[in-house]
Amino acid sequence: MDTTLRDGQQSLIATRMKFEDMQPILDVMDNAGFHSIECWGGATFDSAMRFLKEDPWERLRSFRKAFKKTKLQMLFRGQNILGYRCYPDDAVEAFIRKTIENGIDILRIFDALNDLRNIESSVKAVKAGKAHAQLCMCYTLSEIHTTEYFVKLAKSLADMGADSICVKDMAGLLTPAAAFKLVKGIKAAVKVPLAIHSHYTSGMAAMTYLKSVEAGADIIDTASSPFAMGTSQPATEVMAEALRELGYDTGLDMDSLVKIAEYFRPQREKALQSGLLSAKVLAVDVEMLKYQVPGGMLSNLVSQLKEQKAEHRYGEVLAEIPRVRADLGYPPLVTPSSQIVGVQAVMNVLAGEQYKVVTKETKDLVRGMYGQTPGPISEEVRKKIIGDEKPITVSPASLLQPVLKESAQKISEYMEQEEDALSYALFPQVAMDFFKFRHTKKSGVDLGFAGNEEPVYPA
Ligand code: CO
Repeated sequence: MDTTLRDGQQSLIATRMKFEDMQPILDVMDNAGFHSIECWGGATFDSAMRFLKEDPWERLRSFRKAFKKTKLQMLFRGQNILGYRCYPDDAVEAFIRKTIENGIDILRIFDALNDLRNIESSVKAVKAGKAHAQLCMCYTLSEIHTTEYFVKLAKSLADMGADSICVKDMAGLLTPAAAFKLVKGIKAAVKVPLAIHSHYTSGMAAMTYLKSVEAGADIIDTASSPFAMGTSQPATEVMAEALRELGYDTGLDMDSLVKIAEYFRPQREKALQSGLLSAKVLAVDVEMLKYQVPGGMLSNLVSQLKEQKAEHRYGEVLAEIPRVRADLGYPPLVTPSSQIVGVQAVMNVLAGEQYKVVTKETKDLVRGMYGQTPGPISEEVRKKIIGDEKPITVSPASLLQPVLKESAQKISEYMEQEEDALSYALFPQVAMDFFKFRHTKKSGVDLGFAGNEEPVYPA
């Protein structure tokens, strides 16, 4: 699967690639022979409206028109849809229906805690729309995240109706040896195709892919070389050539791959010159190998400590992270759990006492508002954080009221398509700003939009 248009550009240039910068090469990409092209979802939805003043739905329809042969794939955050909190089922169902109607073939669905209740409604909606449900396990390391744990999880995903399964290694923690064992285990346990998704952050992903393919993985995710490696995926051309020689011919057309790389190279150069692409994210992150913490999370910690004039306590915070993770039931470190754990570790160190100061997000995690954590939350820590309050044991979405009707009412003045109500339900402020921009643009007045600087979310 090619990720250049989604994870590649999200990981390296903060999801700032405009549709007009993709459009001229789409025909070549369509004819290169990819299993599928990931072009939508993840942070692209938010970013299109927030920074690029593009309608993400319009972008999807344009992709569908351009890709005549190749399957289109997206990354979907289960009950979090494409946002950062839990949404009710009416939003999940309508979003998936519109996603399929507008052209997506394969939805890759994950939950940050691997709580399968948080992806149930999504799977049902994908099945109802007769699209392909690729169900994910977020890969992480801890005493409970053994190969056996993940093989069991793969079986549960298959039982839920997964059309394929993906090992999502968002931090690049999967080593070649671990991947070999994991893929062997999963392939022996389930019949559906298996995709391996990793990031080059720790410098191991290409080797990890090779061992995964040797162990029987069916799909690997790569990006065109100008938007590959560093915090992105391994390079498509390199993997295709290496695998061909080893007897695993991908069937990809090398002339097309070269054309695609030549097309994107000037964009990489431009991003390097402007600083949008930093040399730092292109280097191997050795700290990650040592601390097993995603690279993006470490840089967040450094800036947080700087703000508090406490940079000298970085080492203490790094040592605190594994303790917080253990106390909170070993959540995988992916948005939003990575932020929750990182911020709590900083607070524990700076306050000089564990959980003396806690964030609303830590409280919500302990309350069960993000779902069930992989391991149990420490009894002592729970008492300290929420006292005698009982955590919820039902799925968080089951406590939410429908939102779509109200969402449509609130934007009636600007609504041009049903999809607008979904954009608004996910990102009220960002969507409203975008609708106003779109409205003004159509009336012929140029606002001279300059873009606002909002935080960058990890891939
Ligand atoms: Co990724």
